[in-house]
Amino acid sequence: MTADRRGAEPPREARRARTAVLISGRGSNMQALLAAASDPAYPAEIALVLSNRDDAAGLEHARAHGVRTAVVESRVFGKDRAGFERAMERELAGHGIELVALAGFMRVLTEGFVTRWRDRLVNIHPSLLPSFRGLDTHARALAAGVRLHGCTVHLVRPGVDDGPILAQAAVPVLDGDTESELAARVLAQEHRIYPAALGWLAAGLVRVEGAVARIGAAPAEGALVNPLPVPAPLPTTRWDS
Ligand code: GRF
Repeated sequence: MTADRRGAEPPREARRARTAVLISGRGSNMQALLAAASDPAYPAEIALVLSNRDDAAGLEHARAHGVRTAVVESRVFGKDRAGFERAMERELAGHGIELVALAGFMRVLTEGFVTRWRDRLVNIHPSLLPSFRGLDTHARALAAGVRLHGCTVHLVRPGVDDGPILAQAAVPVLDGDTESELAARVLAQEHRIYPAALGWLAAGLVRVEGAVARIGAAPAEGALVNPLPVPAPLPTTRWDS
């Protein structure tokens, strides 16, 4: 007997966006993204971890988890930022990369690179943007006496730590906090919001209106993380459908 198999086919796995994570050091955000992407339902696949330093600790973790890695040594290029980026672009193209996630990548990118990857390039920054752009955010937050601090995932624009915000999480600044205590409290939230935000982007849930990103995921009422990270499978308010 020949069974009619129409409708009995297993659902074809949704295509996952081929994503490169760019690092320069420790790579704990990269690890959070790799952990999220180990779920086949997560809409992004980490197809490459690229570092601008061969001693970046995160590379070892990526290799140990069977993820392709590449090193493009930025110091070899000196001040030739465009040349460095051309070498990076070759790696990204060679791995068929569609999205790029900066995760502690300590190089300023040229306007040309940022424009080529517009709305396909995300960054995590350890402050509640637009406060405390740049470096040493935790020390500066303590010095400013803010009561709330946090982290932001945003689409990248040519300005430093500028671009439409996808997700933010706030943490309290406690009396007597040291810089490293505050940094650790923020980092735990980075590891929550980065996988969520990359997932929204990869799933087509992000629509950009001028300087503002609209997210087609459920908002978190009254929460200090907004929108609330949601477990896969993601809700399906695709803006392009
Ligand atoms: C994180 O705090 C991130 O927000 C900032 O650089 C740090 C990188 O840490 N851009 P890790 O390498 O992801 O552990």
